Amino acid sequence: MAPLRLCAMAPKLQSTFPALYIFGILTLLCPSALCDCKIFPSIAHGSYEDVSSFFSYTTVVQYQCDEGYVLVGEPKITCRDSYWSSSAPKCKALCLKPEIENGGLSVNEDQYVEPETVTVQCDDGYGVVGSQNITCSENGIWFPEVPKCKWEYQMGCEQVLAGNKLLQCLPNPEDVKRALEVYRLSLEIGHLINSQT
Ligand SMILES: *[C@@H]1O[C@H](CO)[C@@H](O)[C@H](O)[C@H]1NC(C)=O
Repeated sequence: MAPLRLCAMAPKLQSTFPALYIFGILTLLCPSALCDCKIFPSIAHGSYEDVSSFFSYTTVVQYQCDEGYVLVGEPKITCRDSYWSSSAPKCKALCLKPEIENGGLSVNEDQYVEPETVTVQCDDGYGVVGSQNITCSENGIWFPEVPKCKWEYQMGCEQVLAGNKLLQCLPNPEDVKRALEVYRLSLEIGHLINSQT
């Protein structure tokens, strides 16, 4: 009963008799001097379990992460002399590989761990629409949102840009490429005819 009563009186004792308060805590509430180890460090996006052996004075806590999170650090921490062997591990969010049509990523992995940042690289002729750099955020979502690679006219096609409007009528890059080739061929045929006359 004594330790409990002391506990209830603790704030008052602390202000009036700091020394007595500390003495009381150490001798009455923490006979095994494991006082601090009664407070298990909690972690975000994960949980812990007391896995101490029943016959041991040593407190051992094991951590695990919620689904979609990966544990970084020591999964088990042990209390010795009132101190935890190390700080609690962290649960870091996992982000799925972003699907980029007509483009790729600076780092290729199946999954990415918060707070990893990747750079989106579009294929030749395509340009990034949105943020080129995206970061795996704490909730497992890419931020800002995954950009798109959009077809752009290639450099060095100035003569074709005159027919820009016509090209925009074509539904996809393949048709544009074919149209360009036909255009080049027609130019070459024109040159040939001109050189013969
Ligand atoms: C994206 O990240 C790369 C490498 O960290 C950096 O060089 C580049 O300037 C960034 N681009 C943008 C648009 O922020």
